[in-house]
Amino acid sequence: MKLEGKVAIVAGGGQGIGEGIVKCLGEEGADVAVVDINGDIARKAADTVKSMGRKGLAVIADLTDDEQVTRAVQETVDFFGKIDILVNSVGGTSEETGQLMAEYAASLGDVAVLPPYMRYSSEVWDRYYELNLKTHVMMSHAVTPHFMKQRSGKIVNISSDAGRMASPDQMPYAAMKAGDISITWSLARALAPYNVTVNCVCPGFVYTPLWARGATGRLEAVRNAKAQGQELPERFRRYATEDVEGLTPYEFWLKYIVIPATPLGKEQTAEDMGRAVVFFVSDDAMNVTGQVLHVDGGLVMR
Ligand SMILES: NC(=O)c1ccc[n+]([C@@H]2O[C@H](COP(=O)([O-])OP(=O)(O)OC[C@H]3O[C@@H](n4cnc5c(N)ncnc54)[C@H](O)[C@@H]3O)[C@@H](O)[C@H]2O)c1
Repeated sequence: MKLEGKVAIVAGGGQGIGEGIVKCLGEEGADVAVVDINGDIARKAADTVKSMGRKGLAVIADLTDDEQVTRAVQETVDFFGKIDILVNSVGGTSEETGQLMAEYAASLGDVAVLPPYMRYSSEVWDRYYELNLKTHVMMSHAVTPHFMKQRSGKIVNISSDAGRMASPDQMPYAAMKAGDISITWSLARALAPYNVTVNCVCPGFVYTPLWARGATGRLEAVRNAKAQGQELPERFRRYATEDVEGLTPYEFWLKYIVIPATPLGKEQTAEDMGRAVVFFVSDDAMNVTGQVLHVDGGLVMR
């Protein structure tokens, strides 16, 4: 086991990718504080860690709120006596994204229709910032004094391939994910003198509750547009000749979104991300900092 005696905080560890990371850290011997806005799933993930014979703690906090960030880190230190590892996995697209896609598809017959990015209001941009970037920045602030004092620590930010490519439908999301890569580099330089490493994992396609919402929204948008005989946007034209009626959102996602975009031709799992995190926070990566690892079946190559 690579992480025996280590204490990790996984922010957003209650479900999806965060939950997979919690499991992988526990399997390698770490004690884990699962910090999540949703108490039920946080407790369940912490129980999984306990069932492996490690210590697990559920901390309920809305990490877009600075005071709750401070409290979450303090509760963890009070319980375990220290922190060695921070994984920032909070983030995602807003509930509005699927709706925006559906509205966009439904309005394609209108020649005056604006591209989807024009539909993200200033308030929606703020929400993307708060959820995807501010949470990672403020959690990093909160652990910094502890890491500086013990002259060691590991931070891993879960960004996205979206931060590395043009994403006209999801501009605010992609911008925040690019920001996450940027803060990874800056923090890595700032904290290197304290023997703290900061790295980043960019997932490709993992069918978590986040993507379940996204796939449902896109499938509905395509079905609506087809039912109304509307022309689909360029990137959706391939759906026009196919029967999407019989597909579940997962099947639609795999067939039309994941496989065509991914050189290895398959989806990724939360545990794939967990194993990448284990590498970054273990001694195997003691000389690795400021790096971005794409765990994406080859979607982004650079
Ligand atoms: N699923 C993918 O394919 C994919 C791809 C690329 C990047 N990502 C990124 O990976 C990360 C995890 O994504 P996921 O698919 O597991 O998402 P998810 O929505 O399934 O899980 C996010 C977790 O964060 C928690 N959370 C949400 N808001 C919070 C808040 N304000 N305070 C505390 N906790 C909060 C949720 O309760 C949930 O447990 C995100 O940053 C996402 O952008 C995901």
